[in-house]
Amino acid sequence: MSSKYQSFKYIKTNYSYISVYDNQKWDEGKLQTSDKISIPISSTALHYGQTCFEGMKAYRTKEGRIQLFRPEDNARRFQESCERLVMPTIPVDVFVEAVKKTVLANESFVPDYGKNQSLYIRPFMIGVGDNVGVKPSPSYMFIIFVTPVGTYFDGPAKPVDMLVSTYDRAAPEGTGAAKVGGNYGASLLPKEHAKHLGFADCIFLDPKTHTKIEEAGTSNFFGITKDNTYITPTSPSILNSITNRSLKYIAKNMLNLQVEEKDIYIDQLDAIIEAGACGTAAVITPIASITFNHNKHIFPYHQEMGPTIKKLHDILTKIQVGDLPDPNHWITYIK
Ligand code: PLP
Ligand code: COI
Repeated sequence: MSSKYQSFKYIKTNYSYISVYDNQKWDEGKLQTSDKISIPISSTALHYGQTCFEGMKAYRTKEGRIQLFRPEDNARRFQESCERLVMPTIPVDVFVEAVKKTVLANESFVPDYGKNQSLYIRPFMIGVGDNVGVKPSPSYMFIIFVTPVGTYFDGPAKPVDMLVSTYDRAAPEGTGAAKVGGNYGASLLPKEHAKHLGFADCIFLDPKTHTKIEEAGTSNFFGITKDNTYITPTSPSILNSITNRSLKYIAKNMLNLQVEEKDIYIDQLDAIIEAGACGTAAVITPIASITFNHNKHIFPYHQEMGPTIKKLHDILTKIQVGDLPDPNHWITYIK
């Protein structure tokens, strides 16, 4: 079954998980076979963007086990996103148990080991109570669905061309650091524009000065410099990527690289010899070039993944599928 999942598309699986918040409390939560919900037309999720989500994956190991990668970190970031939108939170252990339950119920959809495929897990929360005024909803749904996926960008590990967007993804003191629906709505037009011009995705600059790289619409940006340093931007409007956190750890502790979180100016890319985009869906996608103001900056490693990014990629993906030992309590077994 698993060789079918070549890209990032939704396929209905057997079960989703749903929990409802009403009268100031969550119900017990349950699995359901339907992938449809019914909500009031006045729901805050529909009008005011009271919706946030997470993205994580379950992996099949060589021995056939199923495991999650850093699920508690997704649970904590989900809490932060909920708080930013004045939504009730889910305790970390409840979140992780619900994820495990949903994956287990859809066990047959977890792709086989060795195919660069995994089961993508999408927990999300929506405000669903009747509400026409702009205020937090009285009721919420916490839902998890899963779907088997392959690679997000075309072909595994092929360097892609990126376009710097003239639009902003998030405001300086806005919701950029939270994983909320509105950020992605704002990224649709810039991304379509980039794709129309033949780019794989767009890169957003910092919304205050438009001089520094922030991130792509679905992934963080990082680079390897001539002096072997892993650099990645830091900003209050970037999503704090769990993949990026893991790569920083691997770079520092397993590859002995310097790691620096610093401003990366769009007109000073010469120091970078390998560039990449990282995220749960994107995994590590090497970046061949970045076009800004009609100037195309081509990185030295643009035809294939550079040697350091390849090492980072191989270590990360081997840890995720259990081919390398878990270095830092990142793995949670499901079965
Ligand atoms: N940045 C954005 C805007 C994203 O949507 C994602 C995807 O989750 C990431 C970065 C990468 O984050 P993570 O590595 O936690 O998946
Ligand atoms: C993820 O990597 O999980 C993301 O959230 C990206 C997604 C919006 C496709």
